[in-house]
Amino acid sequence: MRSVLITGGAGFIGQNLVHAWRAGQPIDRLVVVDAMTYAANVRSLEPLIADRSILFVKGDIKDAALMRRLFEEHEFTHVAHLAAESHVDRSIADPEAFLQTNVLGTFTLLRAALDAWRSAGTLDQSRFLHVSTDEVYGSLQLTDPAFSEASPYRPNSPYAASKAASDHLVRAYVETYRLPALITNCSNNYGSYQHPEKLIPLMIIHALEGQSLPIYGDGSNVRDWLHVSDHCAALMAVIERGRVGETYNVGGGNERNNRDVVGLICDTLDRAFAADANLASRFPACPAASGNSCRALINFVTDRPGHDHRYAIDARKLAGELGYRCSIDFDAGLGQTVQWYLDHEDWWREMTSGAYKDWIDKNYGFRIAV
Ligand code: NAD
Ligand code: TYD
Repeated sequence: MRSVLITGGAGFIGQNLVHAWRAGQPIDRLVVVDAMTYAANVRSLEPLIADRSILFVKGDIKDAALMRRLFEEHEFTHVAHLAAESHVDRSIADPEAFLQTNVLGTFTLLRAALDAWRSAGTLDQSRFLHVSTDEVYGSLQLTDPAFSEASPYRPNSPYAASKAASDHLVRAYVETYRLPALITNCSNNYGSYQHPEKLIPLMIIHALEGQSLPIYGDGSNVRDWLHVSDHCAALMAVIERGRVGETYNVGGGNERNNRDVVGLICDTLDRAFAADANLASRFPACPAASGNSCRALINFVTDRPGHDHRYAIDARKLAGELGYRCSIDFDAGLGQTVQWYLDHEDWWREMTSGAYKDWIDKNYGFRIAV
């Protein structure tokens, strides 16, 4: 039986991965470790915790004694490392937590894995998957070729720099200590359970509440949108069949600029309200509740400093070596995602209560219309 540690399993991608892993590999023992920061939520995991399909540990990956103890108790054969501080704007406002968790936390986990697998003599059979981002490669112009695994590292935000540093540490552990690690660098994820501070959920929720839709700068920045379930399938393919020491880029093949993404969210909501009269009574402040377009809420505001212009992923290595191609079309995936937020109001209300309001004041209070 394989024993799997998933770090950051109460975050957006982590929750989706826990569900995908549980469904795809029902025999594996799954242990989830998460520090339960503002970004975490265990509601979707509660049934799995209750019926003991997974073991959930609230803990910090920087806690070396805890990590050592977990490796001893559970004899992990596989690690999927997702725990991180993940929001670029927060890294600009307060970078320290990013260095602590993303760099020192990753180091602590690498050391615990190496020590445990060395003393058990299982280095050859084990796998450590480090989940990283395309943001380590920096920014592209519109005509540049997409990022490949050979693209140079040029991080532009404290978040990207901290993930780049963690990637370098993972590589160093492979080269120096023969740790059986693999790295994935993926593009922007979207889908269910994404924290409302990120572009797509933020715009859906603001539109439902009749609040302005703040597009940074002129909205021409391009992201390659990857549905989280495609991403999770790719992660499982890499940890199962990827070559140790290799990096695999994962992209959705869905490049869109922010103006178009926000416009599509507005159009999707407008159609949903036209088709379902109950939505107007649930969300009376939404322009679509009175037959107007959500597009009226779009507001171009002060840009993000160091805002990367374009990310794009060349995912041919993943397809060629492992036969995995991300396939969820963005328009369809976005439609499902909008519907998920309409159907899970309790979830996002819980995520946007308390300290979330302080973040909105801090990140948007100083931005003026441009
Ligand atoms: P998220 O912010 O939604 O979740 C991160 C989780 O990590 C949270 O549950 C949080 O509580 C936990 N965590 C934070 N610090 C911790 C610590 N010190 N110890 C234990 N747990 C801690 O992030 P996400 O979007 O799910 O991203 C998951 C991973 O994927 C991250 O490593 C991120 O860099 C990477 N990634 C994300 C995207 C994306 O579009 N979301 C794209 C590329 C790569
Ligand atoms: P985000 O979801 O923060 O992801 P990342 O910065 O990791 O790409 O942002 C996606 C894009 O949307 C990015 O170009 C910044 C932009 N954006 C806005 O225009 N307004 C917003 O309120 C947010 C949160 C993001």
